[in-house]
Amino acid sequence: MVGGIALLLASSAVAALAIRHEARERELIDGLRHGGYVLYLRHARRLRGDREALSSESKLTDFLVPLGVLGSAFSACYRRPIAIEEMCVMSLVTDNSYRSLMPQMEERGFALVPIDAALGRAIDHSFALGHGFFTKPAEDKLRYALPAFVEGYRELGPEYSKVPERPDLTESFSVWNRNRARPELENWSAGCPLHGVLRDIFDQLTGVTRGLFRSMIDYWAPGAPELRFSNGSWLQVNYYEPARHRRELLQDPHEDMHLVTLVRANAPGLEIEVDGVFVPAEVGENELLVMPGSILSLMTGWRVKPLYHQVRNNHRGDPRSSILFFVNPEIDQVLEPWISNETNAGVDIVARASAGPSNFGLPTLVDGLAGKGTDPAEMDTAIRAPRPLESAAQ
Ligand SMILES: [Fe+2]
Repeated sequence: MVGGIALLLASSAVAALAIRHEARERELIDGLRHGGYVLYLRHARRLRGDREALSSESKLTDFLVPLGVLGSAFSACYRRPIAIEEMCVMSLVTDNSYRSLMPQMEERGFALVPIDAALGRAIDHSFALGHGFFTKPAEDKLRYALPAFVEGYRELGPEYSKVPERPDLTESFSVWNRNRARPELENWSAGCPLHGVLRDIFDQLTGVTRGLFRSMIDYWAPGAPELRFSNGSWLQVNYYEPARHRRELLQDPHEDMHLVTLVRANAPGLEIEVDGVFVPAEVGENELLVMPGSILSLMTGWRVKPLYHQVRNNHRGDPRSSILFFVNPEIDQVLEPWISNETNAGVDIVARASAGPSNFGLPTLVDGLAGKGTDPAEMDTAIRAPRPLESAAQ
């Protein structure tokens, strides 16, 4: 009897291992399918230079190469058998990893950047945590709001896309790198796991964005200095309840007035303007949409146009979540345009970027950094209060 149970447990363990192995294999292939990703040994991150050695030796971006062959390549490199479980997918961001996206940004007005499965899972996890957070009573949510620094929860009302009278019909939660050391936020992660997860995603998206900017410089202005953005950018989760509103647009048409916005949502609604017509944004499972803003237009001498977009209300009963990485330059740098012409002559690009959020009811980058953001207690309560269905403006 005891032997039978042991056999059963052993076979269950083997089955569980096989399932994990299969899932791992799918994840690796999935990552490789998006060029620019390599298989990498999890423990080899410690060894400086290995990434370059492996990538140049094994032509790892070809997803048609059987994993066993890749395993052999790694094994030869490390002179011992290497199992699939020891590999992981990692972005290989070089100076021009995303270079092929730049002509697309010029010609189509947007680009789709691949992300690895782990980042996709983290984003999905943030949506799940967000749902748990946003469905709490208002007083609980407001415990995680630091509007002076634009960190954390923001109720429906202050933020708008066109005019204050038509607020974006969404609640949101924002995370800034510049606020990481703020003592007020020290205990947030204990009571609000969403905050910690968004910080992790911020870091991962910073890597993707750094690669994008390096590719932009390689394409438009080889040799130009690196563009610093980490402390000027924020990550935001929006939480919509479409069925609560009669308006046809949950967000009015606008461009974000940033360098770029990286976005992904868990439901339809986002529409982008292509050739003068708003069409649904189609974003694959392991992709992010890159939406250029007018600060990038200024940097590129308007070769890249701002992408206008809106969010349509499909009146669905289920909530809709989206994650947005709003990328701005850090304000303590002087930015020379990558391409100078009459569109950006004499323009202070950093000052323009700082002012951008004030067009949407948010503090400038300068004010937000200084803790001079909007204080909800001083706001117009008629605008702040969530509106009943009957009074929602069209
Ligand atoms: Fe937007």
